[in-house]
Amino acid sequence: MTPVRWRDGTLEILDQRRLPAEEMWLACTTWQEVAGAIRTLAVRGAPAIGIAAAYGMALAKGGERDDAAAGLRAARPTAVNLSWAVERALASPDPLREATAIAAEEAARCDAIAAAGASLIPSGARAMTICHTGALATGGAGTALGVLGEAHARGRLAEVVACETRPLLQGARLTMWECMRRGIPARLIVDGAAGQAMRRGEVDLVIAGADRIAANGDTANKVGTYGLAVLARHHGLPFYIAAPSSTVDRATGDGGAIPIEERDPDEVLRIGAPAGARASNPAFDVTPAELISAWVTERGVHRSAADLVR
Ligand code: MRU
Repeated sequence: MTPVRWRDGTLEILDQRRLPAEEMWLACTTWQEVAGAIRTLAVRGAPAIGIAAAYGMALAKGGERDDAAAGLRAARPTAVNLSWAVERALASPDPLREATAIAAEEAARCDAIAAAGASLIPSGARAMTICHTGALATGGAGTALGVLGEAHARGRLAEVVACETRPLLQGARLTMWECMRRGIPARLIVDGAAGQAMRRGEVDLVIAGADRIAANGDTANKVGTYGLAVLARHHGLPFYIAAPSSTVDRATGDGGAIPIEERDPDEVLRIGAPAGARASNPAFDVTPAELISAWVTERGVHRSAADLVR
């Protein structure tokens, strides 16, 4: 399972909007097509959009590189991996080699995150998660889902409790699909059932990914993550964030400065709201550092933001 592959001068992107019903690959030969695929979530997940954007830079012709960098950076504002990867490709004399290196590094980071994070999962744990943080979001084993996959491989995980993740259903469509393919026991709940599941004692911990972690540890991730963190604190459950160092943004002081992507209200309305209804659609929220028990990166488990950004 890989979100992108490079073949003979073309970036092929597995169209995640169509999964799990259909496995369709988009063939991108221009940076504009890559930016479009990122903007419309054909490829999504912070590390994966960074990787795709770096390959997008490799598709830019000589004179286009600055425009390509600006266009790719603007495709989605919240995940810092995107601008981080674009900057690396822009600074490189060989963007394709840089993109290939970024993809390999992100996969290696996932392996290290999985190994470090699995130590946090107690035997028999039932772990709640949100959105999708597996192979398709990272190009490797995944971040939060990578940790859970490793815990499962070690015989420690009883169940993943996957929040469906409105409005685009990354949890229902992608986390459930990936768990089933990897043989990880998983149960899907609607987002609104998270509190009741914790109250009933059906959850031992929460673990999520991240799109940007500010210098003070405040963490932006899929909208709904903050609510899970508040619920976890109320129910005395640990709340973990798993992310590679490419998601840590030392230049952003705290969560208030993280740009939050506002998406088309139609994504919220189209399930059956009456014509003319209004909606807002923030794609991410910010969980304050004080609600986070630990961050897991490729460098290990960090119990404080100071240790995380060291
Ligand atoms: O809008 P998406 O699907 O790109 O949102 C993705 C998330 O919120 C993930 O949790 C995050 O990018 C980490 S992916 C390893």
